[in-house]
Amino acid sequence: MKTAVFSARPYDRRYLGETNARDHSRDDFEFAYFDVGLDASTVGLASGFDAVCAFVNDRLDAPVLRALHALGVRAVLLRCAGFNNVDVAAAEQLGLFVARVPAYSPEAVAEHALALIMTLNRQTHRAYNRVREGNFMLDGLLGRTLHGRTVGIVGTGKIGLATARIMKGLGCAVLGFDPYPSPAFAEIGEAVALDELLTCADIVSLHCPLTPETHHLINEESLARMKPGAMLVNTSRGGLVNTDAVVRALKSRHLGHLAIDVYEQESALFFQDLSGEIIDDDLFQRLMTFPNVLVTGHQGFFTVEALQEICSITLGNLADFANGVECSNRVTTA
Ligand code: NAI
Repeated sequence: MKTAVFSARPYDRRYLGETNARDHSRDDFEFAYFDVGLDASTVGLASGFDAVCAFVNDRLDAPVLRALHALGVRAVLLRCAGFNNVDVAAAEQLGLFVARVPAYSPEAVAEHALALIMTLNRQTHRAYNRVREGNFMLDGLLGRTLHGRTVGIVGTGKIGLATARIMKGLGCAVLGFDPYPSPAFAEIGEAVALDELLTCADIVSLHCPLTPETHHLINEESLARMKPGAMLVNTSRGGLVNTDAVVRALKSRHLGHLAIDVYEQESALFFQDLSGEIIDDDLFQRLMTFPNVLVTGHQGFFTVEALQEICSITLGNLADFANGVECSNRVTTA
């Protein structure tokens, strides 16, 4: 079974290789690693492979899936949870096997959300630079005590729940909105309507998937409903947020803080070293000018434990495909 791994970074090679050697040495899996992302311009690299292994910004739309199928590829292994980048209906029509890693370490992403909240709230990103330059003034570094503040979790699934637990542990009141409220969340916080969450929360943290319904869930109107000075945190998917509207809300001083690990146009930027390049994305560059904005490049998942789990489950999915057995992580339209 030959698999072409796209958007492959050194850590993908390392952990896929180690996991394969440990768990699947008898399954005869072969991997070829391509640094480039998978899209219409690179799909030809999949020629001669049985499967492709893709990540969050690889583009698996209908034309790419048709091209993969024509090249003889029969399986798409997503080494991530979200599958908004795959045209699942088109894959089904072609008879392609698509599987993902539904859960690996929800706590890894939740802890990154916490890191963003803590950093922005106490301005440790600015303090770090200041102290290194010998400036020990505190002016401009004033934060708020998180204990007693209200956190709104949009999407109380695995990561939302892990975030809710952490924030409750800090002594925050936790509100949650989810069209499918869970009993597990009810033990931690209060399930409310989205409108109530937006109007009451000091910190709004997004943990729902990107779907046609959630696209630009945070827009001009929802931002206007948020408390003046509130913090918006997005570690889920960039498309949940209308970045133009967010920039306007920051400029008007209505939105107090923005922390994002994901960005709608991130595929042109993230997972690449562009430090010597001119960045053409003016909207992103505008975001970079705000002192109250913190951006990380989609690293919420990036812990040793999560990578090991991602690789282990991805190879398990491949083994299910190779052995023709039912795969519980298969992505379907049903
Ligand atoms: P999950 O499936 O366990 O939870 C998602 C929850 O969102 C579900 O409870 C669902 O009912 C809810 N939901 C669906 N539509 C909604 C809506 N319109 N409003 C509010 N809630 C809604 O998924 P999990 O594992 O918690 O992951 C959440 C998202 O986090 C993923 O879809 C993915 O996009 C993102 N993610 C980001 C990572 C990163 O590195 N930054 C890593 C892993 C996931």
